[in-house]
Amino acid sequence: MNLKLKNKIALITGSSKGIGRSISDSLKQEQCKIILNGRTNSTLKNAANSMGENTDYFVADVTNSKACEKLRDYISKKYGRLDILVCNVGDGTSFPSGNETHKEWQKMFEVNFFSAVNVIQTFKELLSKNNGVITCISSIAGIETISVPIAYASAKSALNTYVKQISKPLAEMEIRINAVVPGNIFFEGSVWEKKQKENPKKVKNFIKNQVPLKRFGKPEEIGSIVSFLSSSKASFITGSIFVIDGGQTNSF
Ligand SMILES: NC(=O)c1ccc[n+]([C@@H]2O[C@H](COP(=O)([O-])OP(=O)(O)OC[C@H]3O[C@@H](n4cnc5c(N)ncnc54)[C@H](OP(=O)(O)O)[C@@H]3O)[C@@H](O)[C@H]2O)c1
Repeated sequence: MNLKLKNKIALITGSSKGIGRSISDSLKQEQCKIILNGRTNSTLKNAANSMGENTDYFVADVTNSKACEKLRDYISKKYGRLDILVCNVGDGTSFPSGNETHKEWQKMFEVNFFSAVNVIQTFKELLSKNNGVITCISSIAGIETISVPIAYASAKSALNTYVKQISKPLAEMEIRINAVVPGNIFFEGSVWEKKQKENPKKVKNFIKNQVPLKRFGKPEEIGSIVSFLSSSKASFITGSIFVIDGGQTNSF
């Protein structure tokens, strides 16, 4: 796309696989220097090796503030700055709606809300050195009532509100922040691949009836908008929510 992102330092949380990995590929194509993150050393190492040069990685559970501080200290010492932060960690697997325990609510907010808030709090000073840009990966579950666990939907809804409202104090630090809200994204090893294997007919009908474009989204379709938002071509955009769902939430 030639977004003029060459040599920008980009941290993508939860990027050993799935959407986070695809966002990393997209930013790499724009010649960013990539820092992958996840909790498992082996999968991160494999991902970094397959991406080639200018790809670094750091193991950290971003639901843990102390681990976030270690990640920041590593980046600060090695690179001296951070230009692009993508808060991608999230997980929709939970109890059926209405059966959650207090512990489960906390777990879902940790992984879907505090995973972003922790990292943003920890990195904002470093990001402010260089007009940093943040993108949070949310979900359509946070904007419309769809058939997913309530705890996931509530945490993503909180994340969307956080992005809108934190944009003002972050703007004072010359940092932009936006959220990208995916619909149903299909990739190898995804939740949707699992569901399709379990009941292909049900999944086919769901997509045909609920998604006007009548298909799944591809992870690279999330990667391309994140790259755009991370660039100066999006320099007047902050506190905004971008829905990438093939029209699903407009078709109720
Ligand atoms: N897939 C979809 O259809 C879809 C739709 C809407 C929204 N989303 C959102 O998109 C984002 C990515 O989803 P995905 O389906 O690509 O996820 P995924 O395939 O489950 O990948 C999650 C990644 O995050 C890492 N991770 C998980 N917990 C972490 C933690 N606490 N600290 C650091 N890394 C962690 C995982 O590696 P380790 O397990 O090794 O840590 C892995 O690299 C999520 O926020 C999700 O809610 C997905």
